[in-house]
Amino acid sequence: MSRTHAPRGPSTTPRTPPPTMQIGPYELPNALFVAPMAGVTDRPFRSLCKRLGAGYAVSEMVTSRPDLRDSLKTSRRLNHAGETAPIAVQIAGTDPEMLSEAARYNIERGAQIIDINMGCPAKKVCNKWAGSALMQDEALAQSIVEAVVKVALPQGVPVTLKMRTGWSHDQRNAVRIARSAEAAGVSMITVHGRTREQAYQGHAEYDTIREVKQAVSVPVVANGDIDSPAKARAVLQATGADALMIGRAAQGRPWIFREIAHHLNTGEELPPPATLQVRDWLLEHLVDHYSLYGETAGVRTARKHIGWALKGLPEGEAFRQHMNRIEGTAAQSRAVHDFFSELAHHHPRWPKAVGAIPAEPERIAA
Ligand SMILES: Cc1cc2nc3c(=O)[nH]c(=O)nc-3n(C[C@H](O)[C@H](O)[C@H](O)COP(=O)(O)O)c2cc1C
Repeated sequence: MSRTHAPRGPSTTPRTPPPTMQIGPYELPNALFVAPMAGVTDRPFRSLCKRLGAGYAVSEMVTSRPDLRDSLKTSRRLNHAGETAPIAVQIAGTDPEMLSEAARYNIERGAQIIDINMGCPAKKVCNKWAGSALMQDEALAQSIVEAVVKVALPQGVPVTLKMRTGWSHDQRNAVRIARSAEAAGVSMITVHGRTREQAYQGHAEYDTIREVKQAVSVPVVANGDIDSPAKARAVLQATGADALMIGRAAQGRPWIFREIAHHLNTGEELPPPATLQVRDWLLEHLVDHYSLYGETAGVRTARKHIGWALKGLPEGEAFRQHMNRIEGTAAQSRAVHDFFSELAHHHPRWPKAVGAIPAEPERIAA
């Protein structure tokens, strides 16, 4: 497995090439990842982020419960039509047997990488002893990793792990879990720099991520609160991580990946994109989104993506309220077209008001 390089100091060496990255047999175009976010990082959003500079995308979590597999939600999540390789699917659950079965099921349906979720703090997940709750039971966590690796690796499918720094402030056991997972055969470890207890409160810390990076030799991905090119560079430097994962800051601003790539490459900042360009990206996203969700669900679920794009824009909130009452995909995309075309008259370049969006925990569904 090829490894990536720690960042060089920006003051003495302005150019920091974005690291390249390999997971198992898959060479990625760069080491900037879009985070799995349930209800957000669906196939259209993943494709959009990849077009705009993300080198890798992990799909939203898929339940390991066979009884839920035929639900419309799960079948949409399993839809990878037209997606660029590698297809990475995240699984979550509490039972090693069920998770290894989920891995097998997803591999049969095209998953090329299996990611185990030990990072999600959602009640719906944690009450069932899954997601980041698994970090409290290291033996169970280890059994799950071993069971999934046993199914996936012989089929040439790398297994990766996503976790937090620990269960609580006093129980930051990410390093121990990372070491065991590496010994069990995982190919990459992502660490969100918060404990489970923190949910999305406070700030991500990067010391634990650096400790994990120093403790294992598989690639480590740093995640948490990266919302600008400068922050990306700082997190790379603080952690020595092999790759960066960005979640909330890509909501409504999927071009953040190319901004970061450009900054790491050149030490300079890209100018904000043309407003008409952003309009066209959003309209393309909507076409793809409607094709996955259909007319009725498509209009409804597109509202949050449009809302994120509008955040902080002049007249954005008034338009968001108006747009939320529009029914019909044609009417919705026409309204978006007109709003952004008008905005472009006054702001030919994207007004730089968009930053990371705080998560609302109740939206973080499994
Ligand atoms: C709406 C939402 C849904 C999420 N769903 C998942 C998920 O399904 N699986 C997972 O591992 N993490 C999930 N996360 C956590 C993100 O992958 C990421 O670790 C977290 O948002 C921190 O990164 P950020 O500060 O760049 O957003 C979710 C986060 C949000 C905001």
